[in-house]
Amino acid sequence: MTGVGALVGVGVGPGDPEHVTLKAVRELREADRVFVPATSASAGGAGRAETVAAAHVAPERLIRLGFAMADEDGRDAQWDAAGQAIARVVDAGGTAAFATLGDPSVYSTFAYVVQTVRALAPGVTVRTVPGITAMQDLAARTGAMLAEGTDGVALIPWTAGEARVRAALDAFETVVIYKGGRHLPRLLEVVREAGREDEATVGTHLGLGGEVVTAAGAADGPVPYFSTVLVTPARDAAARGGRL
Ligand SMILES: C[S@@+](CC[C@H](N)C(=O)[O-])C[C@H]1O[C@@H](n2cnc3c(N)ncnc32)[C@H](O)[C@@H]1O
Repeated sequence: MTGVGALVGVGVGPGDPEHVTLKAVRELREADRVFVPATSASAGGAGRAETVAAAHVAPERLIRLGFAMADEDGRDAQWDAAGQAIARVVDAGGTAAFATLGDPSVYSTFAYVVQTVRALAPGVTVRTVPGITAMQDLAARTGAMLAEGTDGVALIPWTAGEARVRAALDAFETVVIYKGGRHLPRLLEVVREAGREDEATVGTHLGLGGEVVTAAGAADGPVPYFSTVLVTPARDAAARGGRL
């Protein structure tokens, strides 16, 4: 029996275990095996997704898979090993769940997992369970509206390059920037140059413990990888429906 099982990417939200959906909890509990990414950042210990998932699933059910993003030499071997571990479950007709921070379709390791497992078990059924993103969590914590009326929203990683971030700041009312933690001082300079510093907020480790939410003007120096910058347009409270 080959490739008859399923692979389910389960979004567990940005960090707060209360931001895990009922559907995600059910999928994690019903899966034959639950895999969680262990990155170089977690130094072999529990990664963020594992910590969140462990609030809802017996921790001994969680199987760590190494994903050393920064280590190019070891990366391919680790991804292959991860794919093979999942493919064994799928080949036996089982369901493998892969828990991932935020939403599985947004800059998640899950995309690479799917590619690898599909190559090993072409008949696999792939599903995703959407999760709350860091972008939504930061908007909720600041009370900002992500979009009103005709507003456009851009989500872009800092790794896409300064020029693209600058273009997004010029073209979109709301801009969310991921993966910029280490480069926050330069990132905020770009926001300032676009004349949008007063509209920007930085959220670090949302829901993960040690959470910090600051106005861009008060941010100082680099911040950890799990940081998000949210830029929303100044709203005129008196102009109800003004953006329609
Ligand atoms: C690889 S992406 C994962 C995105 C995730 N799948 C999502 O849907 O939000 C990692 C980036 O997401 C953002 N992020 C994820 N979790 C976060 C959190 N708890 N607090 C702040 N930012 C977070 C950061 O910008 C980080 O660099």
